[in-house]
Amino acid sequence: MKNTDKPVWIPLDVLALDADPFVQFERWWEEAVAVMREPEAICLATADGSGQPRARMVLLRGRDERGFSIYTNYSSRKGQDLAENPKAALLWYVEPLGRQVRIEGRVEKVSAQESDEYFAARPRGHQIGAHASFQSQVIADRALLEDAVTEATARFGGHDVPRPDHWGGYRLVPTSFEFWQHREDRLHDRGIYTPLVGGGWQVQRHQP
Ligand SMILES: Cc1cc2nc3c(=O)[nH]c(=O)nc-3n(C[C@H](O)[C@H](O)[C@H](O)COP(=O)(O)O)c2cc1C
Repeated sequence: MKNTDKPVWIPLDVLALDADPFVQFERWWEEAVAVMREPEAICLATADGSGQPRARMVLLRGRDERGFSIYTNYSSRKGQDLAENPKAALLWYVEPLGRQVRIEGRVEKVSAQESDEYFAARPRGHQIGAHASFQSQVIADRALLEDAVTEATARFGGHDVPRPDHWGGYRLVPTSFEFWQHREDRLHDRGIYTPLVGGGWQVQRHQP
């Protein structure tokens, strides 16, 4: 049965936003986790050296004062884009709460140690898949991928699966944030953070 209950949107008081956008993100994160099945799903937008944009969903795997990290194949299309142009944007939609967060910034690889630790904690099938799949490259049919999985499974036998060099994390180091809250009549609330010279952030309200 369709749920016809009207959602209750929480007004965003820009003045009540935390002075630190990372702290503000954590507040919204906690509220999202309570109502979403997969809050980690986030859109990552990159652009190649010619300026061609590309967007795709990824899973947000790390959040701290350094930035926001995701894990992927460094040789993938997104990896090539980031090698040519290490700027990106994240877009997070929290549908049940009528919220979106936009984060723009520069991207760096996380340390090899962080990637190793994250890789080691993954299920074995995911680890094997990272060896078997050359993400974003053409493959004639699925059977070839399954053959590659069989081959990698045999190659590693009962041993630990090492992290492939082509697989690891990226961290987006934010240069701006926007916290957007749905309101009635399209009169949404928007709080935008931009960095202040000398440290800290300016928070401004933008028109919807
Ligand atoms: C909800 C969701 C989460 C995803 N998470 C990841 C991820 O964490 N890392 C990843 O490499 N691809 C992830 N993917 C697949 C990507 O969207 C994309 O297909 C893949 O990374 C190849 O993108 P590229 O060719 O632009 O590099 C996810 C897809 C969906 C729908």
